[in-house]
Amino acid sequence: MPEIAALEALEILDSRGQPTLQVEVTLTDGVHAVAGVPAGASTGQNEAAELRDDEPDRYDGRGVLAAVGSVRRQIKDLLKGRKLNRLEDVLEADRLVEELDGTDNLARLGANATVGVSMALARAVAATWGMPLWQVLLEEQSRDRARIPVPHFNVVNGGAHAENDLDFQEFMIAPVGSPSFAEALRAGAEVYTSLRRQLHERGMPTGLGDEGGFAVQMDRVEDVLTLIVTAIETAGYRAGHDGVAIALDPAANGFRTSEGYTVAGENYTSGEMVSWYEALARRFPVWSIEDGLAEDDGAGWQELTTRLGESVQIVGDDIFVTDAARVQQAVIDRIANACLLKPNQAGNLRRTLDAVAACNSVGYAQMVSHRSGETTDSFVADLAVGIGCGQIKCGAPARGERLAKYNRLLEIEHHSRLPYGLRDADVRR
Ligand code: PGA
Ligand code: ZN
Repeated sequence: MPEIAALEALEILDSRGQPTLQVEVTLTDGVHAVAGVPAGASTGQNEAAELRDDEPDRYDGRGVLAAVGSVRRQIKDLLKGRKLNRLEDVLEADRLVEELDGTDNLARLGANATVGVSMALARAVAATWGMPLWQVLLEEQSRDRARIPVPHFNVVNGGAHAENDLDFQEFMIAPVGSPSFAEALRAGAEVYTSLRRQLHERGMPTGLGDEGGFAVQMDRVEDVLTLIVTAIETAGYRAGHDGVAIALDPAANGFRTSEGYTVAGENYTSGEMVSWYEALARRFPVWSIEDGLAEDDGAGWQELTTRLGESVQIVGDDIFVTDAARVQQAVIDRIANACLLKPNQAGNLRRTLDAVAACNSVGYAQMVSHRSGETTDSFVADLAVGIGCGQIKCGAPARGERLAKYNRLLEIEHHSRLPYGLRDADVRR
């Protein structure tokens, strides 16, 4: 039975040029597995806490040498010699690391350290068995649940991810009607190219935001949506719930004010925001809205869910922070009908899979997500396939750190022949 022989970490850079961790594990059977840790820029208040060095002269105080130290010393001392043969062993290691940390948000060892260890261990199990990672992640579930997710390509960036005047953070296109992932990726890339051409023809800059989408010089949401629909149609696709649909992540924490919300210079109450979303979903093929309201606006979330939840997927990101207990409470409060899943928001795989189980037990849809700061690690692609949630977002269909995930999904589809698409229960018409 293989055991953990060594755990190592080093400080590397992410796609924004900010420090993050690479974690490496070696097993007694010779297996060596590596994981790269992502980092967010528009984070929920209750996310598991990254450990960043308090050294202003180094990387503006954003170094991760202390988190590297957590892996090399405390976590290695705890886990060295433990058997690692299946997913349960990874989840048990996660539990022990949580215990060692002792805080709720993993602030002492650093969630950037703990999630990296968890990802590397899962990958080592896959390598030991010579199995694809997604198959290890579905070990406890039935094989018929696994599926290739619908990619949500973030083609226009605003908010905390771009230096423009656009307040909504993410405008995504989702080829829900494509027959396969390969065709969905093709649709995403063709629409992305068509969008660049539209901008070029209008004499507008085609610079990019953090997730590879265009940082358009526009501030009106309707103008951006009109442009995207034109790009979809010009590329030869149908803009709609049976073709290429649109998903929004306004990330409303970013434009929350003491009275309500301010978008493109206009003030809105939460009720007015909900009416606006209702109008947008009528006029444009918007099938999913994530963080349409701020995480402190529970009453607004209830109204949004009551008024739009039947026809639109309402996704909680900052409000749920990939936490099972928050999802269970949301069902009681009638907030949202879907949950975004970010392993580094939870701090490890154990808590991420707990959130998945909570969603499945209450019938909430799930979308697996990258972060705006990424490495070329493709863990989230395998995660989405393994849990079979049918939805993923990894940024634009461009730039290496985003393509690492999409190309991994292409590879999984090619070798596995798993079905592509949304789960039946999540389809909107
Ligand atoms: P982040 O944003 O990775 O910068 O936190 C992503 C999101 O809000 O979904
Ligand atoms: Zn979000």
